[in-house]
Amino acid sequence: MRLSDRIALVTGAAGGIGRATAVRFAREGAVVIASDINMDGCAETLELIERGGGRGALMKADVTLEEEIVSLYSEISDRYGKLDCVINIAGGDCEPASDVEQIDYLRMSANLDLNLKSCIISCREAAKIMKPKGSGTIVNMSSLVYRGSPNQFSYSASKGGIFAFTRSLAMSLGRYGITVNALAPALVEVPAFVRALGEERWEMLRSDCARRYPLGRVATPDDVAKCALFLASDDASFITGQIIEISGGARL
Ligand SMILES: NC(=O)c1ccc[n+]([C@@H]2O[C@H](COP(=O)([O-])OP(=O)(O)OC[C@H]3O[C@@H](n4cnc5c(N)ncnc54)[C@H](O)[C@@H]3O)[C@@H](O)[C@H]2O)c1
Repeated sequence: MRLSDRIALVTGAAGGIGRATAVRFAREGAVVIASDINMDGCAETLELIERGGGRGALMKADVTLEEEIVSLYSEISDRYGKLDCVINIAGGDCEPASDVEQIDYLRMSANLDLNLKSCIISCREAAKIMKPKGSGTIVNMSSLVYRGSPNQFSYSASKGGIFAFTRSLAMSLGRYGITVNALAPALVEVPAFVRALGEERWEMLRSDCARRYPLGRVATPDDVAKCALFLASDDASFITGQIIEISGGARL
């Protein structure tokens, strides 16, 4: 097993990618702290983990609130005395795609709060636990839109910010034995997406992307989870400050 007895925090663990990641990490021997605002969803994730013989715990935290992130990490520190891996997955697009003139201040702020500021504060708290131990792996969730997206202004800015922050943090934490990398998936088939768009619109989006991506399909949550596992494991021991595009070759 690649993560035997490591303590791993997965935020957004009730969601499509977060759940697949939590389950995969537990299968590799990690004790997974599943965190989210959706605790019913998190409980289902923990049930899946335990049904597979894995170990985990539930901890609620709204990542847009600094004090909740701080208390999440302090609970982890009190309970486990260490933290080996952090996978910052909680996030999503809070602003509908639109023309630049339609940018809404509150929705733009919500995107920066949920995707970027949350990640920065989570990493700050992770560093406080990992630095004194001289080891740790951090994986942040960006998106392929970090390259730019013609009508997703604040979401792409938040995901691009994650890339810049990830590189900065990797430069700073390398000497403490901590790696920091980011994931940039193209379209991933998650239940929340299908629910939000409805079957018919989802199918149009899915087939349009599948036609354009060289590998001929969109990603599954497990495609992303496998990459998170690689970056969190010793297999990626000399990789830091990288963004890995999980895109089936999209936008080459
Ligand atoms: N699905 C895709 O196509 C895709 C592509 C690229 C990047 N991403 C990114 O992957 C991540 C996971 O998305 P997903 O596709 O699994 O969607 P999802 O909606 O299934 O999962 C997102 C999870 O984040 C949680 N969350 C939302 N606000 C929160 C908050 N304030 N505090 C704590 N948790 C909160 C939700 O409850 C949910 O469980 C997001 O950061 C998203 O931007 C998704």
